[in-house]
Amino acid sequence: MEKKQRESWGSRFGFIMAAAGSAVGLGNIWRFPYMAGSNGGSAFIIIYLVFALVIGISVMVGEFAIGRRTQLAAVGAYKSINKNWTFAGVLGVLSAFFIMGFYPVVGGWASAYIFKSFTGLLSNPAAIGDVFGAFITSSIEPVVWMLAYLVVNIIIVSKGIAGGIEKAGKILMPTLFALLILIAIRSISLPGAGAGLDFLFKPDFSQVTGQTFLAALGQAFFSLSLGMGCMMTYGSYLNKSENLPNNALIVTLLDTSVALIAGVAIFPALFAFGMEPAQGAGLVFVVVPQIFAEMGSLGVVFSAIFFIALTVAALTSSVSLLEVVVAYLMDQRGWERVKAVYTAGGIMVVTGILSSLSMGTLSGFKLLGVGIFDFFDILTDKIFLAIGGMLLAIFIGWFVKREDLEDELTNGGTVKFGLFNIWYALMKFVIPLAVLVVAVMGIISIEQTGLMIFGLGVIVVLALFSKKL
Ligand code: PHE
Repeated sequence: MEKKQRESWGSRFGFIMAAAGSAVGLGNIWRFPYMAGSNGGSAFIIIYLVFALVIGISVMVGEFAIGRRTQLAAVGAYKSINKNWTFAGVLGVLSAFFIMGFYPVVGGWASAYIFKSFTGLLSNPAAIGDVFGAFITSSIEPVVWMLAYLVVNIIIVSKGIAGGIEKAGKILMPTLFALLILIAIRSISLPGAGAGLDFLFKPDFSQVTGQTFLAALGQAFFSLSLGMGCMMTYGSYLNKSENLPNNALIVTLLDTSVALIAGVAIFPALFAFGMEPAQGAGLVFVVVPQIFAEMGSLGVVFSAIFFIALTVAALTSSVSLLEVVVAYLMDQRGWERVKAVYTAGGIMVVTGILSSLSMGTLSGFKLLGVGIFDFFDILTDKIFLAIGGMLLAIFIGWFVKREDLEDELTNGGTVKFGLFNIWYALMKFVIPLAVLVVAVMGIISIEQTGLMIFGLGVIVVLALFSKKL
């Protein structure tokens, strides 16, 4: 007997928009272009697509299955199947905190740029890069925006699943899609845009190293919201009649297409303006205003709309991160939603402030060789998510009954999942091995050895001590 009815999604479309909303975010529009830009372009993109469409989609099917089967969020889901695996769920909750350590900072930048579009940012195209640098390194302005952004997250998540998260996704996601396509068309039609398309689609494997593979794998997990129990949590609110593999396919395709469209929106324009592809985290904030700068007042409006879309995409993702922590506190600790949201949100306020300040005022402060923002970013993207995905694959392949998985993925035999055997073999053998190889290759060639060892150490400590959580 259930003590209390579990919340659930209101409709199939609502769930897809929420899950796609979680997946599509800063990862696609802010991070994907600059990762591609600093890892050699097309070769990175091809590796990323293979990882997303083979490993990503399989892990997503697995997360949906475990979440819906157990009707519990990450920690509870693992724990209810096998106590020794609690740590894999705890690692997910920790990852959510870490990603929320930097994500709201960029969400704040995006919101600020909505207003900056109107207040003269575009009137001096030559200064757009410097304006961005000055903005993110200052100590008050970006912090205020970050806080405002975080407060919106807190409000949405405190309203719950169908009323908050789902409603936001249904309106915001389609808007974003339309806008990006518009910008992509504008970008391709600029003179000199061809070089950008070459950079994106003409593979040059001479740039590929072990790092490239790890970066592409981390990007695939990050972008699809995998490896940390987020899709598991969303799956736990899902109706028993939904077709899980189909939904995973739709969400993955939506997510990868948005990343590619973002690439097509950015790179042709970037090359047309003669800018550097490897300029890092400022890429969209510098290139997009440039694209619109020579269009007069119409450009101002487009730029504002773009940053509204970016903010929205970020919001539908960060609410899912906050939800991972909140769902844990509700499921495992029996907290009320609102108390859980305020507590988790309160911690995120602190990490967000530190992380924002690490761009300027606190830039001298290093943790294992990197600033606070990078500490959260690199640890999750380069270690926690990939290892989290690997753990899920091992768990599913070796610790969950095959019949239970088949039963869950076919809704008790009522729908077909023709690829079940292939999926199962991928989870059991291929994915654990592939992630291991990529992680080892990447970690060996990475500069931040201390940070990597620290990250792995955290996972080991969790594995030893988190059974009671
Ligand atoms: N997928 C989101 C993005 O691309 C980020 C995210 C990661 C959200 C992990 C939830 C969980 O921006």
